[in-house]
Amino acid sequence: MAAAAASGFAGGLSAVLASNIAYAAPLQGTKSPLSTTDEPLTPRRDVTSYNNFYEFGTDKEDPKQNSAGFHPQPWTVRVEGLCKKPGDYHFEDLIKPHKVVDRTYRLRCVEAWSMVIPWQGISLAEMIKRFDPQPSAKFVAFTTVMRPDEMPGQRRPVLRWPYIEGLRMDEATNDLTLMATGLYGKPLPNQDGAPIRLIVPWKYGFKGIKSIVKIAFVDRQPETTWNIAAPDEYGFYANVNPEVDHPRWSQGTERRIGEFRRRRTLMFNGYADKVASMYAGMDLRKNY
Ligand code: MTE
Repeated sequence: MAAAAASGFAGGLSAVLASNIAYAAPLQGTKSPLSTTDEPLTPRRDVTSYNNFYEFGTDKEDPKQNSAGFHPQPWTVRVEGLCKKPGDYHFEDLIKPHKVVDRTYRLRCVEAWSMVIPWQGISLAEMIKRFDPQPSAKFVAFTTVMRPDEMPGQRRPVLRWPYIEGLRMDEATNDLTLMATGLYGKPLPNQDGAPIRLIVPWKYGFKGIKSIVKIAFVDRQPETTWNIAAPDEYGFYANVNPEVDHPRWSQGTERRIGEFRRRRTLMFNGYADKVASMYAGMDLRKNY
């Protein structure tokens, strides 16, 4: 991943309020105490036009520009591996039994930019319960759709396709972990990972795999796309950690999109009280 390019982002409170009003209506979820409430939202136009989704190109504006021909409906997610309810689940059937929740989270990219995004989605813990994983399932592996016809970036070997990611079972079932289906009260735009993507707010954004078509319960730590691409730069854990720099840049500060001054990066992206205990005793310099 290249270092974050210079900003060029405008915005401000009036834009945020306008976006809120424009997009508040259809996909409202239940308010959650897990939401970040004390920081201004990143305007919707920035959330949907400054993206990393290499399947549509490597520049920040590429995903919006190149994803109009992507079809997120109909959509099927295959659930497989060490669980009692494997199968092919149509998107609607996957979502229907669950409560859609509103979760506003900070998103911190490993490139040292950040946003505050109002997501809607389903707790991954709840979804996982339904698939009834076996005790031998220690990790959850996720796969993005492979559609080179609709995803021009997949026609070039920029990364090993399809994009894959994974979480340890306790991370996957943490209260914060979300399968997002919407943002700003509307279904996910293609460039943000339609129709369903992962959000793990205490980890760098690259863990948030988009347009998921497979969820597999496995007993070993799965491979992950960015670890395959550059193992010295991107680890499996990828917890936001201001004390462990990227080999090519500092992780001590970040550029919040829409702000001029850099701000300090917080341990676990500010979610330490809810996640730090999962890593007790682990050397976070080795397990980066
Ligand atoms: N998922 C897929 N399939 N392909 C990608 O290139 N990029 C990741 C992550 N999920 C990526 C992906 C990275 S590096 C980041 S920072 C976030 O998506 C960005 O999410 P956003 O564009 O919605 O802000």
